Amino acid sequence: MDVRNKPIGVFDSGIGGLTVAGEIMKLLPKENIVYFGDTARVPYGPKSSEVVTQFAFEGLRFLLGKDVKLIVIACNTVSATCLDKLCASSPVPVIGVIEPGARAAVAATENQVVGVIGTERTIKSCAYERAIHALNKQIKIHSKACPLFVPLVEEGWLENEAAFYTAKTYLESLKKQGIDTLVLACTHYPLLKLTLGKVMGETVRLVDSAWETAREVQRILIDKNLKRQDNSPAFYQYFVSDNPEKFVQVGENFLKRPINPINVIDPQI
Ligand code: SIN
Repeated sequence: MDVRNKPIGVFDSGIGGLTVAGEIMKLLPKENIVYFGDTARVPYGPKSSEVVTQFAFEGLRFLLGKDVKLIVIACNTVSATCLDKLCASSPVPVIGVIEPGARAAVAATENQVVGVIGTERTIKSCAYERAIHALNKQIKIHSKACPLFVPLVEEGWLENEAAFYTAKTYLESLKKQGIDTLVLACTHYPLLKLTLGKVMGETVRLVDSAWETAREVQRILIDKNLKRQDNSPAFYQYFVSDNPEKFVQVGENFLKRPINPINVIDPQI
């Protein structure tokens, strides 16, 4: 098979990677996508780096088994923990979401004061600080772990009172720091954008890595001559490790397209 007609693999701990997959679908509508969300083991954010790395390698192996031409690690926690190791051991290009997210943040801020919210592991890793400061050392960064956001999103509680008060409690201190840009450093968080926007107010820009990551995918496909040549309609395949009903319900609502077929797999096999 012509390598260019192989699908793009997208990996996340759960549903959040759909924010990235959705942008790839819009920007590169001819590309086939195989998505794997490790819904049996989400959230990754509170877990040790050893465990996250083990899960990440299982996800990588699964997607390589699907004969993909490129893999997007659409999970900040994995990108912050072991992206280099995944890249080093993959025969196909692997990209993460942190550098694209940092680029979007640097482009968005005007007062050079940026907030970063993510999982405990992502915030502890300081990966965003490093990536933002590699682009602009003058930017002041205030970070905050928001571990309850991922379970809220997986539950589909995006705009209710529980989501609002959780966001208000986490974000109050960041609001006081005078940030003009808030980086959603977890691919689940864009699903909470309406709630986060209500809490932060109109003067704070919410940026995520989804669009920039899709652009990075496009660049790689062009540079490496990997753009799909086949003109038949693109196919999207979804794999989860548990609870497909919830994934379909929340995911279809977000993507505004059917999630079908959905398959349940065990990434350890
Ligand atoms: C998680 O599994 O805790 C969130 C994934 C992410 O960091 O994007």
